[in-house]
Amino acid sequence: MSEPLLSIRGLTKIFGGLVAVDNVSFDVARGEVVGLLGDNGAGKSTLIKCISGVHASEEGEILFDGAPVAFASPMDARRAGIETIYQDLALANNLDVGANIFLGREVKTRRFGGLIQTLDDRHMRDQSRQTLDSLQIRFPTLTEPIEKLSGGQRQAVAIARAVYWEARLMIMDEPTNNLGVPEQHKVLELIRTLKGRGVPVILITHVMPDAFAVTDRVVVMHRGRKVAEKTTARTSAEELVQYMVGARNDAAA
Ligand SMILES: Nc1ncnc2c1ncn2[C@@H]1O[C@H](COP(=O)(O)OP(=O)(O)OP(=O)(O)O)[C@@H](O)[C@H]1O
Ligand SMILES: [Mg+2]
Repeated sequence: MSEPLLSIRGLTKIFGGLVAVDNVSFDVARGEVVGLLGDNGAGKSTLIKCISGVHASEEGEILFDGAPVAFASPMDARRAGIETIYQDLALANNLDVGANIFLGREVKTRRFGGLIQTLDDRHMRDQSRQTLDSLQIRFPTLTEPIEKLSGGQRQAVAIARAVYWEARLMIMDEPTNNLGVPEQHKVLELIRTLKGRGVPVILITHVMPDAFAVTDRVVVMHRGRKVAEKTTARTSAEELVQYMVGARNDAAA
């Protein structure tokens, strides 16, 4: 077997007296979709924020492509190829689609005989349009600010951003929350597209059918700990719920 793209070893994150993530280890292989499940407050968002440079962990190690990493910020992680869609989605509401895809990596151009440097909105919009087309995501216009878009369209923009910048790992925290049914299907389809391109995805979800629709493997957390790791095809929603509520725990054996 080839080396995992991401390897988390004994990760621990403490807030004051609360151990939000407690000695968690798991791997993510290339092209694999891994579900991260658990009840409210289980530590899922905190765990992925430790990976993506929002939080520094107290203990443990994160290996990305075989090398230890500790990202100082989400932008730092994005530069390394880890794109994260947070539960509280990290797009800039006042900017348009193109500007969001290029957020933090804006393309500039020189105007008036090179005297003035300005943002190359046209280039960014053209590139965004091409990426969205390649993913069969359709927007009537790319010049509307993000706040005018629906939740599903925002998810699509964030996914397009990952595709455009050739993310090597995509992390999605509850991406289908608050979406209509067609939009939920679109997000799942985009996850399959990423997988098809060899980009692994960590998918945090409360929605069992979503987990069964797209994941290869699932990791279940309960009160900060990893309590189960299963091949999706070899488990059931009933079994996973038992782990989520703490009725079963593989780590306690
Ligand atoms: N910045 C923070 N400061 C202090 N405590 C925090 C912080 N972020 C999270 N916590 C706490 O850490 C624990 C884990 O929270 P986390 O958001 O990771 O859970 P979760 O599994 O993502 O839950 P949900 O499914 O509701 O999103 C919770 O008890 C939460 O209150
Ligand atoms: Mg969360």
